Amino acid sequence: MDEFIIEGGQRLEGEVTLSGAKNAALAIMTAAILAEGNTILQNVPNLRDTRTIAALLKHLGAKVTFENGQAEINTDQINDLVAPYDLVSQMRASFLVLGPLLTRHGQAEVSLPGGCAIGDRPINLHLDGLTAMGADITLDHGYVKARAPEGLHGADIFLDFPTVTGTENLLLAATLAKGRTILRNAAREPEISDLAGILNSMGAVIKGSGSDVIVIEGVKSLKGVSYEIMADRVEAGTFMMAAGITGGRITIHKTPTHCLAAVEKKLTQAGLSFEYEGKDSVTVTGPSSLRSVDIKTEPYPGFPTDLQAQFMALMCLANGLSVIKETIFEDRFIHVSELDRLGAEIRLSGNTAIIEGVSGFSGAEVMATDLRASASLILAGLAAKGQTELSRIYHIDRGYEKIEGKLTALGANIRRIKK
Ligand code: UD1
Repeated sequence: MDEFIIEGGQRLEGEVTLSGAKNAALAIMTAAILAEGNTILQNVPNLRDTRTIAALLKHLGAKVTFENGQAEINTDQINDLVAPYDLVSQMRASFLVLGPLLTRHGQAEVSLPGGCAIGDRPINLHLDGLTAMGADITLDHGYVKARAPEGLHGADIFLDFPTVTGTENLLLAATLAKGRTILRNAAREPEISDLAGILNSMGAVIKGSGSDVIVIEGVKSLKGVSYEIMADRVEAGTFMMAAGITGGRITIHKTPTHCLAAVEKKLTQAGLSFEYEGKDSVTVTGPSSLRSVDIKTEPYPGFPTDLQAQFMALMCLANGLSVIKETIFEDRFIHVSELDRLGAEIRLSGNTAIIEGVSGFSGAEVMATDLRASASLILAGLAAKGQTELSRIYHIDRGYEKIEGKLTALGANIRRIKK
């Protein structure tokens, strides 16, 4: 298992270009299941998760090529409608194949995703929605078996919680259902608008993505298109915080600035400054000392849970007390004990972390526990005095493309050790 060795204390300075958004890419790659002919995707990040979804599509019988940021997918010869445990358990988002397989092929079997380090993540809302659209769903030997031999039909669906992949699964399924589907209390994440963007260009009729009511008029078929995936807003936020925690100055290119308002507001309160150039470049400057700021994670457009761990690393070095409330995932604080090993002062009470700023981190051996926690520990390691050894970095390889290369180009001292 690879490790990162980080020698902390460098002020990061320079330019970085963001990769394509992991979460948009995963949903959009599954959208190819719906389309006749070739789907060509640009700006696909080369990550463990995108390679897993490509492997799953291949397993189903699709032709997939994926190199240099471009994926070409043809699903005209799907010959297996089973998404097996070994692929779905590697990444929960594999569950996104359920809606498209079911709506185009009338049946699908997808393994239940299984455990996840950030809490119990159910899929009941995906299944309730598909059932409302006419699917017959049973759970058998760890698999969701779904059938709709006559095809799905439109339905008026209220989601108890604006689940991101749940909204995506139902949106994908509704494109080829008979009649109109209305998704109420839908998730509003920008990646859902990106998914609706490609589906509409394939011939789907979707209105309202980006709002909490999405209306889909089912069509008979969709055609493959060429489409460029949006840039990754979580990667953007992480580099903003890298400038913040090292007192550096980083120009970030291809920034999806319109979807970072909540993050920019909190970082500004913490003392960071933002200068915009053109439509998508932003220079972020870290302060000489960080101010403490409270945050609460929320569904978009609120502060994203995927940046909570990284923001916590920043707050560990801010003046005074800050309070971080995690409202999306109940167990998303496993990074706390690792940040403590670097010298942080954090108290946990249920879904709330109370952080007392300290004057600095000191390097130590720490372990990555999930994707965003790994990013938080890298940020802490960059600011720490001395050497930090971060193990289990396969987590970071799931979601950050060339992270050590990008950080090294900004002046960080970080290297990968093959173990
Ligand atoms: C997606 C993102 C992930 C992000 C998360 C929240 C992808 C591939 N992943 O994950 O990076 O952290 O959104 O922004 O896009 N819930 C239910 N029943 C369901 C589904 C969800 O109760 O059927 C609950 C979950 O337990 C959780 C909350 O809804 O408390 C949010 O989960 P959800 O939005 O579904 O997250 P994911 O789509 O898995």
